[in-house]
Amino acid sequence: MPHESRLSFSEAEILSNHPVKERLVVKGVKCHGGFDADGKYVSPRTLWRVPAIKAWQEQHIATSGMPLVEIPADTVSPRVPNVAQAKYLLRMGVREPMVRSLTEIAIIEGFGAQIRDLPVPPLKSFIKEDTGGTALAHLTAGLFEAHARDEAGWTEEGGHRQMWEAARDAALSNPEVSPEIFAAIIARRTGEPPAMFPELGAPVERLLRFMVNVLAIEVFAAATFQWAEEILSDPEVSDAPKQAADLVRFIRSDEAPHVEYLRTALSEISARTLLTEDGKEIPGKRAVDALIERSLRAMLRQRIVDQPVMVREMIRTTAKVPDIEDLFAGFDALATPWTPPTRYADLAPATAGGAQGY
Ligand SMILES: [Fe+2]
Ligand SMILES: [Fe+2]
Repeated sequence: MPHESRLSFSEAEILSNHPVKERLVVKGVKCHGGFDADGKYVSPRTLWRVPAIKAWQEQHIATSGMPLVEIPADTVSPRVPNVAQAKYLLRMGVREPMVRSLTEIAIIEGFGAQIRDLPVPPLKSFIKEDTGGTALAHLTAGLFEAHARDEAGWTEEGGHRQMWEAARDAALSNPEVSPEIFAAIIARRTGEPPAMFPELGAPVERLLRFMVNVLAIEVFAAATFQWAEEILSDPEVSDAPKQAADLVRFIRSDEAPHVEYLRTALSEISARTLLTEDGKEIPGKRAVDALIERSLRAMLRQRIVDQPVMVREMIRTTAKVPDIEDLFAGFDALATPWTPPTRYADLAPATAGGAQGY
C-alpha cells in the first residue's frame, strides 16, 4: 500500500480517471469524461477524488462535530431571464440574451484554469492545528489541478469551456458571437477588495477569499446549469435538444466534486485556528463566515440589481420586433417574484415585490 490511510492520496490518484469504454467527442474535439460499458457518462478524474472528498468530509464531522460549510439555499435568487422568459425570447426570435448567457458561462468556466495558479502559503504558517489527511492538505496535491482541468480543458482534451460552446452552437445553430462579450466580462472584474483580516497577511486572505468566491460561484452555477438544461432540451426553442442538453447534463455531473471539495476545505479551516502574522490567533470560522457573507452580498447584488438591467438593455438593443413594449409586457408577465432573505433586504431594488419581481 502506497499510503498509510485512505485520507492521504497522491496527486496522480486525485487526477486519475475511471476506465471508460468510449471517450466523449464534441465537434471533433476529444473532451474529458466518457461512457462506461452501459453507455452511462462518467465524469473525469473521479476515481479517487470523489471517495477521497467523502472520506475527508466524514473525518471533519467526526473530529470537529461541526457541520460542513454551506451556501444557504435561500440566497440563490432566480435567474433573469428565468426559464419561461428565456424560452419566450427565443420563440419571439430574440436570441442574443441566450447566446450571450451561454457564451459568458463558457468564458467563466475557462477562467477556472486560474485556480491552479493560486499561491497556497505553507499550511503550517497560518493554521495552528494539524492538517494531515484533509482536503486542505490536497489542494496543491491534485484538487486545484483537477478543478482547473475540468473547467478549462487540459492539453488536447476539451473541458467545460469547450462543452458549453458546443452546446450553444448546437442548440442555437452556430450563432454569431460578439468578441465584445469577453471584453465586457473583463471590464466587470473589479480589483482586490479591501482586506477584511489584514493581520493574516495578503496571501492567506487571498487564498481564503478565492476559495469562498469560487464556492459561491459554483453553487449559483448549479442553478444556472439546471436553467440551461431546461431551455436547451426543449425542442420548441432548441435546434439540438438531445445533444445540447446531454452536454449540459455531463457538465452538471462533473461539477459536484468542485462544490464538495471547496466546502470541505473551508469547513476544515472553520474548525481550526488561524495564525496572524504577528503571532495572534483568529478562529477560522470567523474568517470563513465573514468572507462568505461578503462574497454572497456581491453575487446577489450582481444578480438582482445589475443583471436584470443588463438583460433589459440587451433585449432593447437587439430585438427586432414591431412593438418592444409589447415584448417587455410578455417578458415581465413571466417574471419570478422573489424577495431576498431579510438580511439582504437592503440589496433589493426599488421594484422588488412588484409585478416584475426584480
Ligand atoms: Fe465547470
Ligand atoms: Fe465547476
